[in-house]
Amino acid sequence: MGKKIILTGDRPTGRLHLGHYVGSLSRRVELQNSGEYDDIYIMIADAQALTDNADNPEKVRQNIIEVALDYLSCGLDPERSTMFIQSQVPELCELAFYYMNLVTVSRLERNPTVKTEIALRGFSTSESEGDPTQRGKGIPVGFYTYPISQASDITAFKATTVPVGEDQQPMIEQTREIVHKFNSIYGQTLVEPEILLPENAACLRLPGTDGKAKMSKSLGNCIYLSDTAEEVKKKVMSMYTDPDHLRVEDPGKVEGNTVFTYLDAFSRPEHFEKYLPEYPSLDALKEHYRRGGLGDVKVKRLLIAVLNEILEPVRERRAYFEQNIGEVYAMLERGSARARAAAAQTLKEVRHAMRIDYFEDRELIDAQSEYYRSRH
Ligand code: TRP
Repeated sequence: MGKKIILTGDRPTGRLHLGHYVGSLSRRVELQNSGEYDDIYIMIADAQALTDNADNPEKVRQNIIEVALDYLSCGLDPERSTMFIQSQVPELCELAFYYMNLVTVSRLERNPTVKTEIALRGFSTSESEGDPTQRGKGIPVGFYTYPISQASDITAFKATTVPVGEDQQPMIEQTREIVHKFNSIYGQTLVEPEILLPENAACLRLPGTDGKAKMSKSLGNCIYLSDTAEEVKKKVMSMYTDPDHLRVEDPGKVEGNTVFTYLDAFSRPEHFEKYLPEYPSLDALKEHYRRGGLGDVKVKRLLIAVLNEILEPVRERRAYFEQNIGEVYAMLERGSARARAAAAQTLKEVRHAMRIDYFEDRELIDAQSEYYRSRH
């Protein structure tokens, strides 16, 4: 049986929020604590963040510590999960350089995540390149090819399992294609990874506090893991519910009601016992809301209690690590060294499969020696 290895990561462009927590962080901690995996690598993808932040390297630099603090405060443990910084593993670049030959431009163009991101960032496509108002906003090559670099991140560690949100599905597919192509040309070397999606439907994509499809820093609709209890309270109190639920007596809608979506994602039966014993379950609460006679404030109070109960231990751990920043960097340095050793091993195998390990290739040197000797 092959080893079970996890690799996943985040771009350091901001502090992590509840969307990250339900979509990936809490799952990583569970996977770590399950003891089912031989190795777990968690990468801070600074090089990938630079592919569309070339003009703002300071943002990336400052956010490495934020992401590391969020990791540690959620319960990722450096003894069991290797946390590292992408740019400190230069082997990843070399792998990407070889993989680039296995991917066509049109295949990159079809990557749905890249397409969406290009639209989101207002990059111009080749047709509008001549438009003077768009000048300088063309798509950086590095950004365009980041799916290939992501394939290096995954394959360098021979990851079998990549726990990520659904938006990353096209990246995993592209990685699998690269692995398949590499192995069929150069011989069985790389491991085809599987995606591991979040289980709970409400976690697939947590909406923002404004009800918009996604929690996102640029939309300003996030609840951060590092928010205080008071900030969480304020944000929940201002959350969108059902716009037609004007008076308490009115029947309310639960579908598309963000407060209930959050309860779907975060509440557990024991929370009801503790904070709202008059309701045996979330279903009973929903039922009352639909019928009418249940006010938004009561539901919001429950959500505040639930979120703060979940976030309290996270805040406590963060407070500790914030007083030990030097230690956090030392942890990342050790993690990066460990990651580098693993990636170097894979790179060695890749070079061997591609037969570009000339100096270790006795057969090549002997055969050519023989050939030229025989001509004299
Ligand atoms: N693209 C991921 C994101 O934006 C970050 C990332 C980079 C990643 N390399 C990875 C995730 C490899 C999983 C595996 O969140």
